[in-house]
Amino acid sequence: MRKITLCFLAFILLTLPSLADEGMWIPMLLKKYNIEDMQKAGFKLTAEDIYDINQASLKDAVIGLGNEGSPFHHFCTGEIVSDQGLVITNHHCSFGMIQAHSSLEHNYLRDGFWAQSMADELVNPKITASILVRMEDVTDKINAGLNAGMSESERTKKVNEICRKLEAEAVKGTNLAANIKPYFNGNQYFLSVFKIFRDVRLVGAPNSAIGKFGGDTDNWTWPRHTGDFSVLRIYAGPDNEPAAISDKNVPYKPAKFFKISARGVQEGDFTMVFGYPGTTNEYLTSYAIDQIASVEDPHKIKIRTAKLEVINAAMESDELLRIKYAAKAASVANAWKKWQGEIKGLDRFSTADSKRVLENNFNNWAKSNGKTEYIGLTDRYKALYDARKEYILAAAYASEAGLGGAEIIKFAREIEQVLDNYDKFEDKEQLKESLKNYVEAFYKDYDVATDQRILTEMFKLYNNEEVGDRWIPSVVRLSPKYAKRNGYDRYAADLFKKSIFTHKDDLLKFIDNLSEKSIAKIEKDPILGVATGIYTLYADKIRPELSRIESELKLLNRLWIAGLMEMQPDKTFYPDANSTLRVAYGKIAGYHATDAVYYTHYTTLKGIMEKDNPNIYDYDVPQKLRDLYKNRDFGPYTQDGEVPVCFIATNHTTGGNSGSPVLDAEGNLIGLNFDRAWEGVMSDMQYSPEICRNIAVDIRYVLFIIDKYAGAQRLIDEMVIIR
Ligand code: ARG
Ligand code: ASP
Repeated sequence: MRKITLCFLAFILLTLPSLADEGMWIPMLLKKYNIEDMQKAGFKLTAEDIYDINQASLKDAVIGLGNEGSPFHHFCTGEIVSDQGLVITNHHCSFGMIQAHSSLEHNYLRDGFWAQSMADELVNPKITASILVRMEDVTDKINAGLNAGMSESERTKKVNEICRKLEAEAVKGTNLAANIKPYFNGNQYFLSVFKIFRDVRLVGAPNSAIGKFGGDTDNWTWPRHTGDFSVLRIYAGPDNEPAAISDKNVPYKPAKFFKISARGVQEGDFTMVFGYPGTTNEYLTSYAIDQIASVEDPHKIKIRTAKLEVINAAMESDELLRIKYAAKAASVANAWKKWQGEIKGLDRFSTADSKRVLENNFNNWAKSNGKTEYIGLTDRYKALYDARKEYILAAAYASEAGLGGAEIIKFAREIEQVLDNYDKFEDKEQLKESLKNYVEAFYKDYDVATDQRILTEMFKLYNNEEVGDRWIPSVVRLSPKYAKRNGYDRYAADLFKKSIFTHKDDLLKFIDNLSEKSIAKIEKDPILGVATGIYTLYADKIRPELSRIESELKLLNRLWIAGLMEMQPDKTFYPDANSTLRVAYGKIAGYHATDAVYYTHYTTLKGIMEKDNPNIYDYDVPQKLRDLYKNRDFGPYTQDGEVPVCFIATNHTTGGNSGSPVLDAEGNLIGLNFDRAWEGVMSDMQYSPEICRNIAVDIRYVLFIIDKYAGAQRLIDEMVIIR
């Protein structure tokens, strides 16, 4: 049976048309690999219009949003749309910022926020915006320092050493920042040089009923009606260079900003997405796919389901809890839902089977060509994944149900880690101050009762046989005292009662009176005990073995891609996403979702009214939007008489691409990327042109909301809109 399936699949794979639309391409290599294809598909500009280091190009208007501590990890993308540094990105990208500025008095999540003037724009400490200055292929420079005799750990050490040196050299004497990342599993390396701005302010955001319309119910699905956008502004020092947050800063004057096309999109139109995709795994083997789909994801889903049940109930019960937990719930729910779609897609497209075909072909090719370095590679993969299974499951529980389960666990550990170094802090008063700030920040969005319920559920889940007896830390098991009274609830309740971490005032007092002696006492705290118990098992027994396996896999992964490239010399490979700037291109297109179901390529305000239901939080349309609709007060933002809201296209995107500019054939902004359609979310591991669709909010809906709904005309006036 297996044989027949494999032959059949091999046949299908061979007869597939070239995989147009697939791929996330490196901007500096478009000229070499893609531009002809792009132009054939309708693109009207040149490769230099997209990426040029001598003149302003589109890349100068694309920003990667990051955090102070990790500016090269871009959690989202944004784009500059005015000569005064105005940036648009998604609502869900700024969600943390909007939430941080929100309180019961100023509930910007619920009511939206629109700065009336520049002076009212709100600073966001720790948010960074990077603009790519240039890229460089440094593979040869790195390989020159390596030799075949090196062990994997020696190699890693050496690569890091060379990278840090090259990065320092690249930006010496400038205010720029450089970062080298591996591509193709370490077969190539590229250096990216950035200008990183550190004063990024919140300018405007619609209320969640628009910006998050459909919420987690509609997340990862099409048809979609989310006005997922927000407005930021980059501020620079008086010299137009990056500067720390300051009153003296002025709006940044960009080298380039996007013009906006309000002309609309048609099915079949060329479109590209220019942004920072985070992580994809397109070159995994069947062993990895099987393990993700049948071991890792199902367990992680189960754990998060339990967490979400508790959080959602809390949010339903109380307005303040809804604010506190809004961002947390969204982030737990997002991956949770995606994993479910991913498993479905991998199954529907028999991804593991098609990988097996490829692996068979590879083995035959290696043998018949005497490629000794590749012979037996897939067997080594199999052995490693077999060994990995137990550890990856143990690690999933340690992180999802343990250290990342109830928040108090992580909180206790973090405080302990600081206290561990108590004697090293010279200024004890300053230490106390920052610890107290940390506690205040944690408690701002924390609810003791909710977290206690989460801990109870986590205990229950952790104690199951699939995890393997030796991977269940003793601290999460019930002692006989509790077992008798069936007591996960009791156990958690007692921990919460006796711990200092769950008592904010006591904790603050403790910090005020901090001393060597009091620190010794806190070491006996019961919640810290649980945290330490989980962590110790993980750090001593799980992590070392897992890292050993992962490091061997790293070597195989490098060989595997090198081998695939050798076997298919005519194929143009694209590297997996790694949070560096990429271009994806394709066309506006609907799709056949399931049997008898075809989805067209765009949605309208009419669809929002169809979903309207005041009793369902996610579908509760604001009255003002209803009125605009009823009066058909649409301004110039219509297509065939309706206001377009979202559209879909075949661009290959992933997490991090959110907020990315979706551009037309002339490089004008037509929308903001924010999601993917349910049937194709497995595109991080296998892209299929028939079913994988990225979802964008139509720029005309963005303009309609800014203009007609929020009345923020001053922002519209800054933009250049082509009608
Ligand atoms: N699925 C989109 C992405 O991965 C949107 C996530 C934000 N929305 C949410 N409901 N959690 O980022
Ligand atoms: N929603 C994702 C993001 O935030 C995009 C995606 O995964 O398609 O980047």
